[in-house]
Amino acid sequence: MRMSHAADLWWKNAVIYCLDVETFFDGDGDGCGDFNGLAQRVGYLDEMGVTCIWLMPFYPTPDRDDGYDITDFYGVDPRLGTNGELVEFLRVARDRGIRVIADLVVNHTSDKHPWFQSARSSPDSPHRDWYVWRDEPPADGPKGVVFPDQEKSLWEYDEKAGQYYLHRFYKHQPDLNVANPAVRDEIARVLGYWLHLGLSGFRVDAVPFLLETGGALDAEDLPDPHEYLRDLRAFLNRRNGEAVILGEVNLPYPDTMRFFGDEDGDELTMCFDFIGMQRLYLSLARGKAAPLAEALRERPEQPKDTHWATFVRNHDELTLDKLSEEERQEVFEAFGPEKRMQLYDRGLRRRLPSMLDGDMDRIRLVYSLLFSMPGTPVLFYGEEIGMAEELSVEGRNAVRTPMQWSDDDNGGFSTADPEKLPAPMVQGEFGPEKVNVVSQLRDPDSLLSWMKLLIRRYRQCPELAWGRYEVLEHDAESVLAHRADQDGGTVVAAHNFADEPVDVTLRLDRLEPGDRLVDLLSDGTTPVEDGEVRLSLGRYGCRWLRVVKPGEVFVP
Ligand code: NOJ
Repeated sequence: MRMSHAADLWWKNAVIYCLDVETFFDGDGDGCGDFNGLAQRVGYLDEMGVTCIWLMPFYPTPDRDDGYDITDFYGVDPRLGTNGELVEFLRVARDRGIRVIADLVVNHTSDKHPWFQSARSSPDSPHRDWYVWRDEPPADGPKGVVFPDQEKSLWEYDEKAGQYYLHRFYKHQPDLNVANPAVRDEIARVLGYWLHLGLSGFRVDAVPFLLETGGALDAEDLPDPHEYLRDLRAFLNRRNGEAVILGEVNLPYPDTMRFFGDEDGDELTMCFDFIGMQRLYLSLARGKAAPLAEALRERPEQPKDTHWATFVRNHDELTLDKLSEEERQEVFEAFGPEKRMQLYDRGLRRRLPSMLDGDMDRIRLVYSLLFSMPGTPVLFYGEEIGMAEELSVEGRNAVRTPMQWSDDDNGGFSTADPEKLPAPMVQGEFGPEKVNVVSQLRDPDSLLSWMKLLIRRYRQCPELAWGRYEVLEHDAESVLAHRADQDGGTVVAAHNFADEPVDVTLRLDRLEPGDRLVDLLSDGTTPVEDGEVRLSLGRYGCRWLRVVKPGEVFVP
């Protein structure tokens, strides 16, 4: 397919890498990661093939929700550096051709934010209506506590204000009232500020909650929440035509489509595929392709120029909330049978390699899927080397331990005393002595080397990320086979979810006599005979194959 097209719509063939500055690399030896440290490591990300860094919240914060509780949307938390150092990092990233996006967390602020402090101080405060207040929690208000281990209600009584305020998440995170035009203006100002400093967009936190305003508002204030999202997108692209908003929308597919702006595609540029992610784990647990194949078949085609973002793990619990109760229990049993591994009765606080007992064939299979399934892959830091969780760290933070650079003290993350680190290093078989960047850089068989190969091939084959795809029918139930076509290019991928080798015969329509399939992850060429191809896959094996025409010179 035309590379000029792929480069234009950059987000459709990007490799997004999510990291927290706090846990990535400590440049000044105080124990906390910082922008200076991150700038030193941009080369590593570039050499891996990352094209876009997603920064988790780096703003000033009391840090009661790992930075998702913000006290100043325009600042940098002093533990992480200064605005100047952030700009230096942006400069280094640009030099490497890497775009940077950041978390935009405007569903709520910290209760320590000066706006909230002002709002609660008096009904006449100019910020009072920036939050959602009620004399009594409304019976018809929003439902569903997100963190049931900590919160019992969405409304908290504030003595000083003499009213209840809405908080979708923790009670120390009062929700902003986007029905108020002044709040919407301020959010646009925040976007404009960071775009001006050089960001290429935002990962928008908790989008459905952001659009919801308490349930008892004057309908005239925000009659159509999606109109607000359209306005925000239009503003974003007026300021920077190539900027994107990647939304956290964990809803069934038909509902998620509304956040793309339905067929108009004028709201979120990208949405995470939470459904595909959950079905992937069900497929892994069962050793069968069907759950993931069904998700890919059900997944609606995204509107033009928008895109799905695919992922295996993120910084939160591995949510399984869109599976049925029995399906969820199957996954719990397979990958997190102990209560201490589970969270909120809906998810797991583990990373992939420990869930798969360190089985490298199976781990490689999962990342091969991530990079070959339609959508833009998003990695969470440390996935490329197979980092695991540290369960002694509370809650979701178990998967947010410092990056493991080497087998030195503190995994080479920091030279400070271990007590000064933001979280303890992973202990045991997945700790930095065994799992680290330096040793994997030297090892051609490492997971990191595998990841680099996948990324190289993924970038060479934009058909995979955004071509027209088709899940292929066949009779091997452990195998997911799909093909992706775009502008005359065709790539076929096959993945075996079983721990035994398998052969599969695939029917490939629309090929011509003499076409052959060339392996992209290993050496090999397979002829297509009468429109059919027979492939062998090892235990948890995977193959990507490009259709090459007779006489065509193929340069891998
Ligand atoms: C979603 C984020 O992913 C999560 O980490 C955070 O706690 C909540 N939003 C609240 O901001």
